Amino acid sequence: MQFIVWSDFFSTGINYIDGQHKKLIDIANDFHASVKNNANKSTMFSILNHLVSYAEEHFADEELIMRKAGVSAEHFEYHKDLHEKLTLSVFELNSELERGEPKTLHEIEVFLNDWLIKHILEEDRKMLPYSAKLKNYNPMMN
Ligand SMILES: [Fe+2]
Ligand SMILES: [Fe+2]
Repeated sequence: MQFIVWSDFFSTGINYIDGQHKKLIDIANDFHASVKNNANKSTMFSILNHLVSYAEEHFADEELIMRKAGVSAEHFEYHKDLHEKLTLSVFELNSELERGEPKTLHEIEVFLNDWLIKHILEEDRKMLPYSAKLKNYNPMMN
């Protein structure tokens, strides 16, 4: 996998979530580019920090939308737990880089792929059955 290109295949059918996923993919691509171009550490860290803070915002919004959709409490807790693990793993990557542990481009690609795409495809897309109801729902406006 190289740079991630958005496709409808990633769509949850909920515009607000898709918009945030597109932005996360953009930031992940920026990070990938910074590793590929041997950018200095402060550039890499600032992109990674941006990824973390935007991901935290996205997870909170997505959880709000899941509550609005009315998913079961069990599924909600399961998904929220996955978000916590994703947040932890990006912190781990951050501290590994900080300690100066070299990461290959391949390792970064695998990480971003698992971290973002796998979660969207395997978990977030479980929201598809609710998309008719929530297609244009905006948690900021409701
Ligand atoms: Fe999610
Ligand atoms: Fe998501």
